Amino acid sequence: MADIAKNGSMENAYSKIETANRYDSARSLPSQTKTLWLDALKSSIPEQEIRKILDLGCGTGRFTVALGKAFECSVIGIEPSSAMLGVAMSQSELHVEWKQGQAENIPLENGVVDLVFMSQVFHHLVEPQQALREINRVLTSAGYLAIRNGTREYNKELAWLRFFPEALEIEDKRTPSQQELKESVCDRFFELISQRTIYQLFAASYDEYFEKVSQRGLSALIVINDEAFQSGLQRFQDWVSRQPRNFPVYEPVDLFVFRKESA
Ligand SMILES: C[S@@+](CC[C@H](N)C(=O)[O-])C[C@H]1O[C@@H](n2cnc3c(N)ncnc32)[C@H](O)[C@@H]1O
Repeated sequence: MADIAKNGSMENAYSKIETANRYDSARSLPSQTKTLWLDALKSSIPEQEIRKILDLGCGTGRFTVALGKAFECSVIGIEPSSAMLGVAMSQSELHVEWKQGQAENIPLENGVVDLVFMSQVFHHLVEPQQALREINRVLTSAGYLAIRNGTREYNKELAWLRFFPEALEIEDKRTPSQQELKESVCDRFFELISQRTIYQLFAASYDEYFEKVSQRGLSALIVINDEAFQSGLQRFQDWVSRQPRNFPVYEPVDLFVFRKESA
């Protein structure tokens, strides 16, 4: 699915105010899940080398402030959707600078950040190679790129997705496999230094899982039509009603850490 039009428009599945306003409750992560991600990042990236982070496609800032706290440094959050950015900017944080922009044309000078973090953005890129050139440009000479993203191998483990065939088709088309993601990033500027799949706690119970999915904060559910969404939701609800109560729901998401290759 092409999120950013070739003419540079910043319109995408997250452009609407209603989507931005419900994103945080639809996709909130328990604090232990956020800690898990930040610990995983810190175990691959020497903290002392990180003085400035770019959270690219920061959305509502789900990770932006937490990244600055974890690495004790300043952070820039860049996001194309003004609606998502508006929610992010409502968190008044001294060490975060917010900017509107997109990965294919990053509004920063050369060599100004030590780590670029991209969470659930890679599969939205229309021109990934152009975005990688831009990431390489804004990174310092020994900088890092961390990509937190779903990969195609795991689409079948996302329980909700089985009930929305139209969304499954979108995800299967746009989500890279682990190998495709690594090959496109390592093609020119980067080397892979770590890779892992993290089963993150997403909801404390199936009821909470249903509640989150029903808020339609996942982009594949935003772009399918209302009828397809409602019928899938009905099937999903029937399935949820047969699951054990108070059973936590975990979902797999991958973390890839790359280091910039010396020229
Ligand atoms: C699933 S959300 C993830 C937001 C945030 N990183 C997080 O983990 O909560 C995907 C975000 O990518 C942004 N996005 C889409 N295309 C982009 C692009 N070409 N460059 C940068 N961000 C993009 C969307 O506007 C949206 O906010």
